[in-house]
Amino acid sequence: MRMAISSTGSDPGPTPVRPRSDPGRTRALLVIVGAVALVSALSAASDVTVPLSIELPDNPTAGARVFVEKNCVRCHGLGADEGRIGPDLGRIHFPGTVLDLAGVFWNHAPVMREKMQDLKIVQPHLEPREMADLVAFLTAYRYYLTEVGHSGNPIAGRAVFESKSCPQCHAMAGATTFDKPGPRLDRYKGQYSAILLAQVMWNHSPEMASLMRGRGMTFPRLTGVEMADLLAYLQAGNVNDKQERVYFEPGSPRRGRDVFAAKRCSTCHSIAGVGGKGGPDLGARPQELVGSVSAIAALMWNHSQAMTAEFARRGLPRVTFSGGEMADIIAYLYFVNYANVRAKPDHGGVLFVDKCSPCHTLGGGKQVGPDLQTAAGLNDPVAIMAAMWNHSSAMEQELRKHGFPWPRLEPGDAADLTAFLLTSRVGK
Ligand code: HEC
Ligand code: HEC
Ligand code: HEC
Ligand code: HEC
Repeated sequence: MRMAISSTGSDPGPTPVRPRSDPGRTRALLVIVGAVALVSALSAASDVTVPLSIELPDNPTAGARVFVEKNCVRCHGLGADEGRIGPDLGRIHFPGTVLDLAGVFWNHAPVMREKMQDLKIVQPHLEPREMADLVAFLTAYRYYLTEVGHSGNPIAGRAVFESKSCPQCHAMAGATTFDKPGPRLDRYKGQYSAILLAQVMWNHSPEMASLMRGRGMTFPRLTGVEMADLLAYLQAGNVNDKQERVYFEPGSPRRGRDVFAAKRCSTCHSIAGVGGKGGPDLGARPQELVGSVSAIAALMWNHSQAMTAEFARRGLPRVTFSGGEMADIIAYLYFVNYANVRAKPDHGGVLFVDKCSPCHTLGGGKQVGPDLQTAAGLNDPVAIMAAMWNHSSAMEQELRKHGFPWPRLEPGDAADLTAFLLTSRVGK
């Protein structure tokens, strides 16, 4: 069978080979063109974006188990110094969304498989759930999960404590004065995880702010790094450092979604356009909110005064957090941004024609590969990416046979492509 690759590359020869002799193929192309037209018809502009629904993880560390079980750990370290065959995935910051990382995974599939053959490791099959957990774990690892157990620099934290005027109201260990308006903070030593301290600071911020106002002080703003260092200083002397790292849970994005609703955050905040007005949209800001735990905690602290004022203006009771609620909210804000994927199905259609249609149809029956409109189980973006990984070996063989390169996906491509494929499956 001949393959038509509608590449706009440098080949000056006769443009796309159209195997006219193959009616199935022509029908397939027509179906594809029809599907592209359908998408275009649905959308006014050609660069229209649609939201893709990605399920929030319940436990961002679930992927750690998959990482071990599927042998990823045999070739990849996670921030450890030992040299392994593959890159250290704990040191790479994967920008972009869950689908971008799935795309990275796909791009590297042939090289990984080759190394797996060398080591006699069977390419692991990934269920959609496992793919979702793995990708959540890897995306979160560098900027989120490592920070959960990370404790900042207590020496720098002492400088922050002093420069932000905390000693005006709080005594630390060794203090001889007991007439400060705020409680002694040395009793927090080793007691709490950083995130729980951030929770206590949030809860007390209105009282602190009003005292500061009374003294003509400005409310101190903190960067994420300052917050981390400050919390490390307040905790310094924690003999159970190691234990705490092990036992502290990073919070659940799904539980956080419930807390977000229960605390009525959505009265003033929308998430990617859905929800209330008055505060900023919290679900469309991957740069800021896909940050470290302490960066998100610092944002909440910095805005606490304006939020308190807005609560008062609307006659709402101010919100405080207890137990693991702050941890859950922060996990939610982090993950909702990473899982909030917007895609351009039109562009996905172009990618499909270019990279996939040589072997696949959408509604035109089986070609070299299965009909992607009717193949079972391809009903969400992560499931499509998992299926692509699982079938990558056979796809690679077909590509090799015809001398075609591995179809790489650039950032955004996996989202656009899956959005396009899903549009074609609507109602199927
Ligand atoms: C047999 C060794 C091996 C195994 C097993 C393996 N990988 Fe890899 N992986 C590699 C190599 C080698 C690369 C670099 C590939 C390249 O340069 O194209 C890589 C690259 C990657 C990348 C891209 C990193 C980057 O630089 O952007 C990701 C993500 C990844 N692997 C994830 C995984 C996951 C998840 C698993 C388990 C399901 C896994 N790998 C299993 C060898 C392996
Ligand atoms: C103007 C005085 C003032 C300043 C400045 C101040 N605080 Fe406070 N802080 C208080 C008071 C008063 C309370 C107790 C509030 C209450 O009871 O609700 C408090 C409570 C706290 C608590 C909770 C303590 C507990 O045991 O419940 C923490 C933690 C805290 N502050 C940290 C800080 C840090 C860190 C800084 C510097 C960035 C700071 N505070 C600056 C007055 C201040
Ligand atoms: C009564 C309205 C209101 C409610 C309810 C509210 N907020 Fe806010 N929030 C605001 C406003 C207004 C701002 C911007 C404050 C400023 O400009 O400093 C803000 C800012 C923020 C920011 C910083 C965002 C940024 O752009 O940097 C975060 C994070 C945040 N809120 C989280 C929450 C969470 C979590 C809840 C629920 C516990 C909540 N908010 C409830 C009004 C509200
Ligand atoms: C060179 C031919 C070829 C190309 C190009 C190709 N595929 Fe495939 N694809 C196959 C074959 C063959 C299979 C079946 C593999 C198997 O049975 O393991 C397959 C299987 C699949 C499956 C799994 C279907 C199922 O039943 O679960 C998905 C999803 C898929 N391909 C998506 C894509 C996408 C998206 C592209 C474009 C980026 C693409 N393929 C490009 C040949 C190809």
